[in-house]
Amino acid sequence: MLVVASVLSVVLLVGFLGSLLLLLRWNRRYPEPRLDWTKVDTEVVRFPKGFLWGVATSAHQVEGGCDNNNWSQWEKQSAPDGTPRISGGQNSGAACDHWNLFLEDLDLIRQTGAGAYRFSLEWSKIEPRPGRFDQAALDHYHQVLDALNDRGIVPMATLHHFTHPLWFERLGAFEKEENIPHFVRFCERVFSEYQGSVRLWCTVNEPAVFATMGYLMGIFPPGRRDPGQAAHVLRNLLLAHAKAYHALKHLPGGESASIGAVKNIFQLDPHRRWYLPDWLLARVGDAFYNEAALHYLRTGTFKFSLPGVLKLQTMELEVMGSLDFIGLNYYSHVNVKLLLNPRNPVSYAARPGDTMTDMPYAIYPEGFKRALHRVSTLGVPIYVTENGIADSRDDRRAQFIRRYLYSMYRAMEDGCDVRGYFYWTLMDNFEWAEGYDMKFGLFHTDFVTQKRTLRRGSRELSRIIREKTGSTNQSQ
Ligand code: GAL
Repeated sequence: MLVVASVLSVVLLVGFLGSLLLLLRWNRRYPEPRLDWTKVDTEVVRFPKGFLWGVATSAHQVEGGCDNNNWSQWEKQSAPDGTPRISGGQNSGAACDHWNLFLEDLDLIRQTGAGAYRFSLEWSKIEPRPGRFDQAALDHYHQVLDALNDRGIVPMATLHHFTHPLWFERLGAFEKEENIPHFVRFCERVFSEYQGSVRLWCTVNEPAVFATMGYLMGIFPPGRRDPGQAAHVLRNLLLAHAKAYHALKHLPGGESASIGAVKNIFQLDPHRRWYLPDWLLARVGDAFYNEAALHYLRTGTFKFSLPGVLKLQTMELEVMGSLDFIGLNYYSHVNVKLLLNPRNPVSYAARPGDTMTDMPYAIYPEGFKRALHRVSTLGVPIYVTENGIADSRDDRRAQFIRRYLYSMYRAMEDGCDVRGYFYWTLMDNFEWAEGYDMKFGLFHTDFVTQKRTLRRGSRELSRIIREKTGSTNQSQ
């Protein structure tokens, strides 16, 4: 009897430990999925006929002459300790002078083999004062759209890409729910103006980046560090998206229009597998940065809590069902590690052996597939609205393109409904707090002569578009 009982307890113990190990995926070195890229054949990719290949920009980063919005004001300021807000005290200034050079730039898009262009309409130029719309600015974007359509390039227009007029900033922007109608009025006006020429509309770009950088980390305007305010801004921006979505759907042309929001996914993975605080940290970060928005869009409930600091829960059913598609912006992930340093409690260090981009994160193509699966849970078609690398030496771009597109292909094979892919970005431009230091462009920009030169690594994108699209291997 004693022997049976001991054997049974050993079996139970082994079983318990076994399942625990399985649960923790003991065969993995790190908590997050990683491929051995030396064994992957990235040439197997195939994309369906009709897949939309594009490039992306945003107004403030390329146009120049944006001197009446929240960023123009921010660029002139310094932090309380005297450090300029933008790296090296730069400002957006004339940027790529895309406002004047757009015809040449649209020809560059064609050169890459892409057939779609994601750009943003600069609210501060179109509505410089509340309710007063500037005809010259409205005409300008008509010219851009005509030029795109003449060239057979599909336009995707973004309505809010981090910038808004100074008058809106002074009203408290998205800190206050009562300001949302101003945004909706702008959206209605430009939608009525351009709906005949725009195929795809993005309401807001990356609400979590806007809220985190501007209201939690203080790196973007208005430079706050307040978790409560960040949570409100995140919620209000998503609510603004939903309100704009429904308003546009009720306008002529609205029913058949394709309108979505753009979500950036940046995974926060625990640095150490066996250290619970790293997992908790990753969980809380992810809840704010990724899950709060996805959950709100899925269920109409916005909830975020930080024990002892804040608890926010609201329900707006109009947010549910406010997407014809979801735009996914994907770059990388971070590994979070809790440090015993009250002034600097979190490290985001990469893994040994990781290849870094010029931004403070590594190349992590595996995360692209994870992110596509995650946004698939929204149940609507997906457009990858941004993906790209800052690589001033141009020695990682080609491999980045091959591996990320391989990951996207795998996600599509798994059933993710991806309809298009927009590379960030057409040409080097004003990279927000980093100024002109980051070189994300397929084309190098000489900011003195405004000459654009195609980078060697960028040719990989053109090759894949040309050779791997519309093949009979893929069901269409
Ligand atoms: C995104 C943003 C873009 C661009 C890109 C590269 O967060 O939407 O405007 O700056 O990052 O960092």
